[in-house]
Amino acid sequence: MRINKYIAQAGVASRRKADELIACGNVRVNGAVLKEPGYDVDEGDVVEVNGHRIQAETKKVYILLNKPEGYVTTVSDDRDRDTVMDLVEDVDARIFPVGRLDYNTSGLLILTNDGDFAYRLTHPKHEMPKTYRARVSGVLSKEKCARLENGVDIGGYVTSKAKVSVIRGLPKSTIVDITIHEGKNRQVRKMFKAVGNPVQELTRIAIGNVRLGRLAEGHYRKLTHEEIEYLKNS
Ligand code: URA
Repeated sequence: MRINKYIAQAGVASRRKADELIACGNVRVNGAVLKEPGYDVDEGDVVEVNGHRIQAETKKVYILLNKPEGYVTTVSDDRDRDTVMDLVEDVDARIFPVGRLDYNTSGLLILTNDGDFAYRLTHPKHEMPKTYRARVSGVLSKEKCARLENGVDIGGYVTSKAKVSVIRGLPKSTIVDITIHEGKNRQVRKMFKAVGNPVQELTRIAIGNVRLGRLAEGHYRKLTHEEIEYLKNS
């Protein structure tokens, strides 16, 4: 198997990132720094990335987790906060979160050991739609919905087209679904703040057609074969 694919299958990095690691001299095969980017790994080769031995995993795992608030979407945290990895400890593969959700955002998070899948899903050029359900303060007027849909300035960046549906009004807040096609840092929070209705609660409920459904917070399930194929081909 070609070395960049081998590294991706080990869940260390996407193929493209693997090529960079090779170019930077961070990959060793049988103790020697690899010079040849197209190297084919032989059975019995010892492959190291940044000094750590890696092994290609053949079995791919795709998990859909309902992340609760109060967890970071990283594999480890230097501030010792809970990470989403604490919620999937019994999965027997070296999975990692695909993309990120804020510490205070709950909802749909995919974890996998497939580096190529993760890379494709998060690459901006694919513009995978992501839908969030938000509770925002105050009343969200039709005019504000139109502004959110057409693009708002979130601090030097004007958001692209979005879809907004008010679900219901509460005495002092509004429940609203918003679908965006990009993933700037804290984008949804910034968008609602920009129109004067700060987010009080935020949950991601879908990535494309893959929905969170009724999965309880902190629980996870495997993605179905159809969902995996759909995400791979979107
Ligand atoms: N937008 C946000 O503001 N936060 C998230 O976690 C995801 C999208």
